[in-house]
Amino acid sequence: MRTRTLGTTGPRVSALGLGCMGMSALYGGADRAEAVATVHAALEAGVTLLDTGDFYAMGHNEMLVGEALRTAPAARREQALVSVKFGALRDPDGNWTGYDGRPAAVKNFAAYSLQRLGVDHIDVYRIARLDPDVPIEETVGAIAELVEKGYVRHVGLSEVGAETIRRAAATAPIADLQIEYSLISRGIEREILPTTRELGIAVTAYGVLSRGLISGHFSRDRRLPANDFRAHSPRFQGDNLRHNLDLVDALRGIAERKGATVAQTAIAWVLSRGEDIVPLIGARTRERLGESLGALDVTLDAADLTAIEEAVPADAAAGDRYPAVQMAHLDSER
Ligand SMILES: NC(=O)c1ccc[n+]([C@@H]2O[C@H](COP(=O)([O-])OP(=O)(O)OC[C@H]3O[C@@H](n4cnc5c(N)ncnc54)[C@H](OP(=O)(O)O)[C@@H]3O)[C@@H](O)[C@H]2O)c1
Repeated sequence: MRTRTLGTTGPRVSALGLGCMGMSALYGGADRAEAVATVHAALEAGVTLLDTGDFYAMGHNEMLVGEALRTAPAARREQALVSVKFGALRDPDGNWTGYDGRPAAVKNFAAYSLQRLGVDHIDVYRIARLDPDVPIEETVGAIAELVEKGYVRHVGLSEVGAETIRRAAATAPIADLQIEYSLISRGIEREILPTTRELGIAVTAYGVLSRGLISGHFSRDRRLPANDFRAHSPRFQGDNLRHNLDLVDALRGIAERKGATVAQTAIAWVLSRGEDIVPLIGARTRERLGESLGALDVTLDAADLTAIEEAVPADAAAGDRYPAVQMAHLDSER
């Protein structure tokens, strides 16, 4: 497994991380036994970075990751680094009710996460979205206190913009910024990526397959349950979906010439954007995991990158990457 470093202060991790969200939430149903087997297979293949959030099905995802760690061989368990997001508030119906980045809340969230995961420390800890009512210095400062006490190893950020990144980095060493980045979500290239690079902060990229849209497996006639994020995502609706899947068809031609799948080509493109970028793979079955890991064997040369840029130009996607209500929570989009 190739490795990359999470910024100038963070740990060395596998070049691809495993995002565990879809194993519990947001993409319709998932098979728990297959999900645990997928985490085990990822660890076996040398993946060291596992990403979760305490609000992914209200603790379910952390308990699933905890079970996978507990039942993995000791050597595999010891190589695993767990990245946890906190701060998103839910109600019993699953509604999203805001964010909480107050220091006392940060420590409370962490105490529960350690218990659910069954670990004595969290490797990278980050608030999922900026709490508009709490200065980032206070939230990051609380995580830094957890670092001092040994409950957290590194501070991360998620979906924040350049100014917030600078303020956070002035408060404590920041290992990585987790943010959406893919062939069709390239907004970070304007200001955010230059800022993380200047400050020695890595990017853990999510939505590398735009939540399956550019995986090559999504089709126009796929029906999504109401609890699937994609049923409400602008990019998956009507004409937007048709337009976006045309982009995928253009990408498919290039992938076929490379002897790769569309998903592998899309992941390889993100890998090609810099050694400071670690794509998080959202696989929830061993089959999808195997396909995603195959991206590590796909080398894109200058001609390939030019062809990809022509097939899927920056800003080619139709539709925002989140519904309007959720876009409003993104400090990264201000
Ligand atoms: N910081 C944040 O705000 C934030 C937000 C979202 C996610 N994340 C993290 O980032 C991780 C990855 O994000 P994501 O799940 O949206 O990423 P993604 O890789 O863009 O989408 C994953 C989905 O794509 C589909 N897919 C099709 N082919 C695949 C393949 N070969 N390999 C993997 N997936 C394939 C699967 O859906 P089907 O099985 O339905 O086909 C899968 O659930 C999450 O698990 C989470 O840990 C962070």
